[in-house]
Amino acid sequence: MSALLDLRGVTRVYDDGHEVMALRETDLTVQAGDHITITGPSGAGKSTLLNVLGLLDKPSRGQYLIQGVDSGAMTEAVRGAVRGQLFGFVFQAFHLLAGRTAVENVGLGMLYGPHSPKERGNRAAEALDRVRMSHRADADPRTLSGGEKQRVAIARAIAGEPAVLFCDEPTGNLDSVNTENLLELLHELHRDGLTLVIVTHDREVAARGDRILTVRDGSVTEAAGCP
Ligand SMILES: Nc1ncnc2c1ncn2[C@@H]1O[C@H](COP(=O)(O)OP(=O)(O)OP(=O)(O)O)[C@@H](O)[C@H]1O
Ligand SMILES: [Mg+2]
Repeated sequence: MSALLDLRGVTRVYDDGHEVMALRETDLTVQAGDHITITGPSGAGKSTLLNVLGLLDKPSRGQYLIQGVDSGAMTEAVRGAVRGQLFGFVFQAFHLLAGRTAVENVGLGMLYGPHSPKERGNRAAEALDRVRMSHRADADPRTLSGGEKQRVAIARAIAGEPAVLFCDEPTGNLDSVNTENLLELLHELHRDGLTLVIVTHDREVAARGDRILTVRDGSVTEAAGCP
């Protein structure tokens, strides 16, 4: 069976005046059910790797297969549809819309998906319940704590029931108590079948991964697993 995600010799070069090789000749397969964490120094290429995997960015060279299908042959519309259906995203800065309620923010994550407005509302309510934020469904994000904002952002990312959740420094703006709560939530979601790919500077967050990748100067290595 095909891997869920499969990078084959993927290189990403940025060229705005001078060339930066952000990702070098990377081979990486992600299997359904993996919990992958990605660490490495600032500027090493971690976000680049995440963005390529999440179809937010394209390889300059090499192949990226998703469930066995070459993403290089997809139109923009198909890339967008695959991204919307298979992937959810959580970033350090939450990116919630002020002036909308928490539950509206979660619903907005499904705006371009296949669901009717009523179905989106139901799913948004369910997702908020899953992250234990139902009691603040009608709150403006400006009135939420950092930990609460990140839970709402996770609800938005999972409401469409993606196969993979990509997180880029999800605990970067959280204190240690909120980080622990978020790790517990991610653990539950993983246990319930969600594949996780998490970029983090935090050693404790990284250590929770079943597979721990390190990126240095665009090269990805994987720590050998315990037998
Ligand atoms: N849009 C861009 N244009 C040009 N160079 C870029 C662009 N995005 C990233 N880079 C460069 O590519 C390299 C990798 O960047 P990337 O954002 O992937 O690093 P990172 O490991 O996520 O770093 P951090 O931990 O600071 O977030 C860096 O040298 C960066 O300056
Ligand atoms: Mg980054």
